[in-house]
Amino acid sequence: MSILKHNNLNSRPVGFFDSGVGGLSVYARFRKALPHEDCLYFGDLANMPYGNKSREDLIGFARRILDFYNQKEVKAVVIACNTSSAQAYDTVKDEYRFKIYPIIQSCAKVIASANYGKIGVFATEATVKSGVYTTELQKYNSSLEVKEISCPNWVPIVENNRYTDKSAIEDVKNQVSKILEFSPDRVILGCTHYPYLMPLLKDFAPEELFIDPAEIFVNYISTDLESNGLLNEVGGTEQFFVSANPESFESHSRIFYQLLSPPVLV
Ligand code: DGL
Repeated sequence: MSILKHNNLNSRPVGFFDSGVGGLSVYARFRKALPHEDCLYFGDLANMPYGNKSREDLIGFARRILDFYNQKEVKAVVIACNTSSAQAYDTVKDEYRFKIYPIIQSCAKVIASANYGKIGVFATEATVKSGVYTTELQKYNSSLEVKEISCPNWVPIVENNRYTDKSAIEDVKNQVSKILEFSPDRVILGCTHYPYLMPLLKDFAPEELFIDPAEIFVNYISTDLESNGLLNEVGGTEQFFVSANPESFESHSRIFYQLLSPPVLV
């Protein structure tokens, strides 16, 4: 007989995952909104970047992390990664007994219901290839025009802290001018690493043009946890795990979030 550590569902932890530090853009907001949740964060650095991986690989990475969280007896897992939400979520969503929140599918309704005619999306190659942003947004607003552009160089810029490199600035400038040709009302930063590029993005287009879905996502998750009686009112701990390079995760995360304890290699 297995002995469960957590008797009450609501006192169980919430797990987060991404390929690296990008998911901290969601995690940091979640911690602020729900400071009494016990949280776990998994950075899959051994397989980073996700954006150039196949669907089969991405499903395998997601299963490995979800199995890990299953052993940790989580009540929910937040896929703080657009690429995994686009390529793996559909396949794995019914394989586990806990809730799984994917970023794209959780935010599409709110974005599609605002009064926009044209939406641009910056995302990884694998996310763009899936077409999930277009499908999900048009599910709620069939007349919305959507243009998705992949930015394969942006995750390495963030993970390696190369914001001041000439080539990085040039790349951001080119991608912004490509999306501006479409005259979008808003541009979704459809990769959790991209909000960290805002200091560069706003040099080439108004900051208000860009949507960081993290806030909408965290609202969605907290409303859903609350309506299912799953909120924790007495916790607040956190723990970080990585599949490789704990030192690199710790040093790069410092710019985005102050970890309370060093990441553990699993
Ligand atoms: N931050 C992830 C996303 O939202 C993955 C980026 C990557 O590793 O390529 O898509």
